[in-house]
Amino acid sequence: MPLATRVLDAPITWTWLDGVASRASDVVKAVLPQPVKDVLHGTVLGHPLHPVLVQVPVGTWSSAVVLDVLATLTPGRASDGFDRASAVLVVTGLAGAVPAIAAGWADYADLHEEQRRIALVHAAANAVATSAFALSVLARGRGRTGRARALDLLGMSVAGGGAALGGHLSYRWAAGANHAEAVPHVTPRGWYPVARFADLTPGTPVGAKVGDTGVLVVRRGEDVFALADVCSHLAAPLHEGEVVEERGRTCIVCPWHQSVFALDDGSVVHGPASSPQPGFDTRVVDGEVHVRVRELPGVPAAEPVEGAVA
Ligand code: FES
Repeated sequence: MPLATRVLDAPITWTWLDGVASRASDVVKAVLPQPVKDVLHGTVLGHPLHPVLVQVPVGTWSSAVVLDVLATLTPGRASDGFDRASAVLVVTGLAGAVPAIAAGWADYADLHEEQRRIALVHAAANAVATSAFALSVLARGRGRTGRARALDLLGMSVAGGGAALGGHLSYRWAAGANHAEAVPHVTPRGWYPVARFADLTPGTPVGAKVGDTGVLVVRRGEDVFALADVCSHLAAPLHEGEVVEERGRTCIVCPWHQSVFALDDGSVVHGPASSPQPGFDTRVVDGEVHVRVRELPGVPAAEPVEGAVA
């Protein structure tokens, strides 16, 4: 395994973090009301919010370090302009870090155990970086520009490590990724029988299969809804969840972290999920429920498999 991967993966084995990691998760869940969580997760936006917000501190702080370098290379009073501009960027980054941190902790609370270990180290690195930039502001206020520049460099170096961990958490360990993205690609096209209509109890979710794709099937009165069974947040089996009415819509509540998805179109009603569930068309023919994956524009579903019906 490459050295960089070994370093970034190291926290995965640090099970001694689990006690504090679990308590931190409980605190975040208890403190944040659901409407605030929906905003911080990006459920309202339709995109994870944390990676959007971190652009502000990362961009401003890295720019501040560039200005610090220019200030260092500029002799005498001519460097003052660079230092003033650097200070403005550092303060802007500190202001931007506040909502970014809040969104990060909201996401953290609903991660798997091994993801939380990496996330905790990521958060600790960012706390050190933020502190270094805050101390830099104080140092500049006291006229200690050399110290301020050194603190900026320290802060950016640690923030870079923290950002690398955050990226690793997303790309390697799939935190924040859409876990249902592959469904329209791997599900065979066409109609497939999944249940007898009379066997479905209204309001009781049922799991079925189309090829290798799990499908959640729910009857409500004379209607039948079907969504991908794998939760877009972290891949829980949705058919183990609960059917509820929310905002006038019939929804499924994920059994793991309680994301709520509307059954008619798979849209996210409450997070932590921010990606909708892939949907299936349904029909009832001779008392038999058929489902068909909804294809994405320009993305053909997989070849039909045995069991397809006309
Ligand atoms: S797996 Fe987390 S909300 Fe479904």
